[in-house]
Amino acid sequence: MSDLRNDERKTLILTGASRGIGHAAVKRFSSAGWRVITCSRHGFPEDCPWEMGPEDHIQIDLADPANVEDGIREMRERLKAQGSRLDALVNNAAISPKDEHGQRLPALDTGIDDWKTVFQVNFFAPIMLARGLVEELKKATGSVVNVTSIAGSSVHPFAGAAYSTSKAALASLTREMAADFGPLGIRVNAISPGEIETSILSPGTENMIKDIPMRRLGQPEEVAKAIYFLCTEQSSYVTGAELHINGGQHV
Ligand SMILES: NC(=O)c1ccc[n+]([C@@H]2O[C@H](COP(=O)([O-])OP(=O)(O)OC[C@H]3O[C@@H](n4cnc5c(N)ncnc54)[C@H](OP(=O)(O)O)[C@@H]3O)[C@@H](O)[C@H]2O)c1
Repeated sequence: MSDLRNDERKTLILTGASRGIGHAAVKRFSSAGWRVITCSRHGFPEDCPWEMGPEDHIQIDLADPANVEDGIREMRERLKAQGSRLDALVNNAAISPKDEHGQRLPALDTGIDDWKTVFQVNFFAPIMLARGLVEELKKATGSVVNVTSIAGSSVHPFAGAAYSTSKAALASLTREMAADFGPLGIRVNAISPGEIETSILSPGTENMIKDIPMRRLGQPEEVAKAIYFLCTEQSSYVTGAELHINGGQHV
């Protein structure tokens, strides 16, 4: 348990915290004494072993813009206990739909509604959240981290066209946001994971290891450490960056 009262702690809002990279980020920030407000489609798991409770979880479907707006109102309400300050927003939740055989969805076969849903979750929700929470971020001189992907910069064997283009758009959005939020004192960066061992990976990913210079998959904790770096004083003059966390896969 942290000894700090809620109004003295730094606060993170993190989307997609229920597993994978988000889960590891909750652990990293919580162990440093931060209050972490999480959001995902499912309710707070009753068997969750951490000190945070259901009062720090918001059930929200980022695929539904009206639900995102409601979620932002709820977040702002909950931040009042912290003097309406927000130290960091991490846009981590994403979807990566596959075809019925679990294979990559190419541009020709992706229905327009699926493109829209992927872009709503992976691209529009991050900017909606950042804009909706801008006053709270400004008050704390906070920072935003957008989670992009190695699939945003070249065709990937498993990631579909909609997913990959949404991540490329999110990388560009990070640049635009850094320019627009910078004068408000808010830093905006991206982290771009490669093949990280989580449930989003497709069967066959292990065959890619031979082409990764570090010859192994990454662990969610290794991504969480980089997110933490970008949300803290250690990176105080870093904005508009996209940090590759992929064992050298991009080279
Ligand atoms: N793992 C990798 O190798 C890898 C590589 C490159 C990039 N990334 C990126 O890293 C981030 C995290 O990936 P991950 O592997 O940890 O993913 P993951 O294990 O599939 O977890 C995704 C998270 O997003 C939440 N989520 C999904 N759809 C949502 C929605 N409509 N509304 C609200 N929450 C939603 C999920 O929670 P609920 O199911 O409860 O909603 C879950 O907590 C993503 O942005 C992903 O694109 C991952």
